[in-house]
Amino acid sequence: MQAGWHSLLRRGGNLLRHSARLVPPSARAGTTTARARPRALSTVPALRSVSTAATPDLTRPQPGLVKASQGHDTLKVWWREGEPDEFPYIWLRDNCQCPACFLDTASSRVSRVTDIPPNARPKEVCVSEDGASLRVVWEDGHEGTYSASWLHERAFNPTQQSIHENFYKLQPELWDSDMFQRIPRASFDELMEDDAALLKLLESMEVLGFTVVSGARQEEGELHRLSKRVSYLVPSHYGTTFTVKSKADPSNPAYTGKYLDLHSDLVFLHYKPCVQLLHCITQFSGEGGDSILADSHRVAVQMRELHPQKFRFLTDVLVNFRDFATDEGFQFDIIARKPMISMKPDGEIDTVNITTTGRDSHFCVPPKDAVGWYDAYLTLCDLLYRPDNHFFYKLEAGEILIVDNLRILHGRTGYQAFDGERHVQGGYWDWDMMRSRRRVLQRQLRGSPSGV
Ligand code: OGA
Ligand code: ZN
Ligand code: ZN
Repeated sequence: MQAGWHSLLRRGGNLLRHSARLVPPSARAGTTTARARPRALSTVPALRSVSTAATPDLTRPQPGLVKASQGHDTLKVWWREGEPDEFPYIWLRDNCQCPACFLDTASSRVSRVTDIPPNARPKEVCVSEDGASLRVVWEDGHEGTYSASWLHERAFNPTQQSIHENFYKLQPELWDSDMFQRIPRASFDELMEDDAALLKLLESMEVLGFTVVSGARQEEGELHRLSKRVSYLVPSHYGTTFTVKSKADPSNPAYTGKYLDLHSDLVFLHYKPCVQLLHCITQFSGEGGDSILADSHRVAVQMRELHPQKFRFLTDVLVNFRDFATDEGFQFDIIARKPMISMKPDGEIDTVNITTTGRDSHFCVPPKDAVGWYDAYLTLCDLLYRPDNHFFYKLEAGEILIVDNLRILHGRTGYQAFDGERHVQGGYWDWDMMRSRRRVLQRQLRGSPSGV
């Protein structure tokens, strides 16, 4: 990441952005019904740095080329401002922008890499007089022109690459229980009408991993309405949406008044849904029915730093997750085998697979590994249920809780199921579609650091 591009404040173990841009002013302490348990005094280990989202500077002058010179296997270009860049010949040829190689209307390459002559080199390279483009004539006679701004955005230097990295994915800001004082909020009506409000929600989801939307109607169907603005609803074996109520012969423990531990939904699917929506249509009026929220990535990072050996058990031992039941006449037996903490190839946390109800009793490891794994899992639970790592929030009727199901664990305190009706409608969204929507809106509303 580029130095100076982002800055962080470290406060009480929290990593905070300088700018509170993503947290609307309505998310003030005391304006929500959230309550936090007293904070523990334990030290929270340092977390990895996070960076801010890219906000393109539209006032910046367009980059201009000065000259280009041919090296062994790269073309070196000088800009009016800044350091020169090198572009590999093979990359230039593979990304030729001429109409034979690139279909503009689809923003897609149509040339085949295997058709590029071996060791393709330019015969002639020429920068236009105004510095706005570069023309390359290749040894085989093929010709292509690249605009300076197109080349500049794709330069192989860390600054440009980090701009694209931030356009690709906004960096998460890991949080602790203090988050209950600045719960990110959005208004249903604004989301339906205002693209800027929608962009803010999508950014907040990527950075903080959850949002409370208020002002939805107190009836089923609002998730479908909202989804038209954001992403399609991803169906599961519980339907496109599902009704969370206390039911006779429940097909899922969520359909009772029991306490639901902090969990991620549908862990037993190999394609675990990315984002969960819980629309509170009627809330339980007595004690209970509160949502519980925790940032599992923060807890996993703590686990790695405080208990590295136990952490390895959770990343290496495969656990069986299973959903074996019948819902509305449909019988299923779904099994996925995964570690409790899955890692990305770059060593970052990918997702935390915690579910009390969906973890199977089959455990296909030697007994001593099972013993070690339970020890590690219980240590993870100690961290997770430490008061500074989770908070409670009781949804009001008409509120929709949206959580990143790959990162934020959710739960629910128990309630007396038959004392009153509690009615929640659930559904899932897909991260690819949500990020796509964020990029499209980002480009429309603010310009983009990365044109296609
Ligand atoms: C669920 C769930 C929470 C609630 O259905 O998966 O976590 O508030 N429900 O009922
Ligand atoms: Zn071409
Ligand atoms: Zn759930």
